[in-house]
Amino acid sequence: MTQKHRVLTGITTTGTPHLGNFVGAIGPAIEASKNPDAQAFYFLADYHALIKCQDPKRVAASRIEVAATWLALGLDTNNATFYRQSDIPEIPELTWILTCVTAKGLLNRAHAYKAAVQINEEEKEKDPDKGITMGLFSYPVLMAADILMFNASKVPVGRDQVQHIEMARDIGGRFNHIFGPTFVLPEAVVDEKTAVLSGIDGRKMSKSYDNTIPLFLPEKQLRKIIMKIKTNSQEPSEPKDPDSCTLFEIYSAFATKEEIQSLRARYAQGIGWGEMKILLFEYLNAILKDPRERYAEFMADPARIEKILLEGAQKARSVAAPFLAEIRKKTGLLPFA
Ligand code: TRP
Repeated sequence: MTQKHRVLTGITTTGTPHLGNFVGAIGPAIEASKNPDAQAFYFLADYHALIKCQDPKRVAASRIEVAATWLALGLDTNNATFYRQSDIPEIPELTWILTCVTAKGLLNRAHAYKAAVQINEEEKEKDPDKGITMGLFSYPVLMAADILMFNASKVPVGRDQVQHIEMARDIGGRFNHIFGPTFVLPEAVVDEKTAVLSGIDGRKMSKSYDNTIPLFLPEKQLRKIIMKIKTNSQEPSEPKDPDSCTLFEIYSAFATKEEIQSLRARYAQGIGWGEMKILLFEYLNAILKDPRERYAEFMADPARIEKILLEGAQKARSVAAPFLAEIRKKTGLLPFA
């Protein structure tokens, strides 16, 4: 039997999951975990959250919301290993070991760090590193540890994360070169087909623009927020262009080819914006109704989520702990007798 390849991805826990996360990441990841040839490792990147967010309430709320979301959407935790990064002490241990083989110059070139320096320079700060923590600077090493710890070969991520996966390869390769073959070198998987959704203001849906549609809003609020989606000022009965319309784009991310075709025809006939918004609300609401109920059940029972994640951590550590023991030995950190 050939060994199953490992797919691994992390979700930084700083926000409330929204429609864009579902379409772009969570949905495809749950689908991928059903592939019998793959072994999926999915985790809450809560140590990464601390880099971006020092608001404990927000981090705590996001961790449980993200966990409940994945479970409500049907992640099968018998099949996938689902855990919190901060429950795996082997990850920060490996982070240090990897830090010692990582060139500082490599991290100087990381996009996130460079962008922060650039802002300081533009603002004519005397110190280009003003306000930049070692957490932000070392972010790619922690991420390399997340991946290399489990010898993941495929890492599904968004475009913005590809450089980090390349750095994980570099760092793993460096360790292998110094201490002998140890780590599988991972590859980023960027799915060009998965939709990038626009938010209610027409820009990319993102928590940093504050334009998201949270996945599990109560029905009334979902309706309200869909009513706020920006459209142009065309009158009902005027033919409309679906391809420049956020409402159409969101609908298309969920609908079948046939449904999309027939909606196209209605745009040509001049469907009014009010009518279209109600149509979109009803369509999304039908899809989200059941998972929303399951989400509410999970959120009302944190002990159940805790138990699932601790079981996940145990599974993850049964892989990580023996591997870390091997890694330590290679570096000379071994028992005396
Ligand atoms: N940095 C990733 C993001 O912000 C999240 C992440 C942390 C991750 N560790 C990872 C993704 C390991 C893939 C593999 O999206």
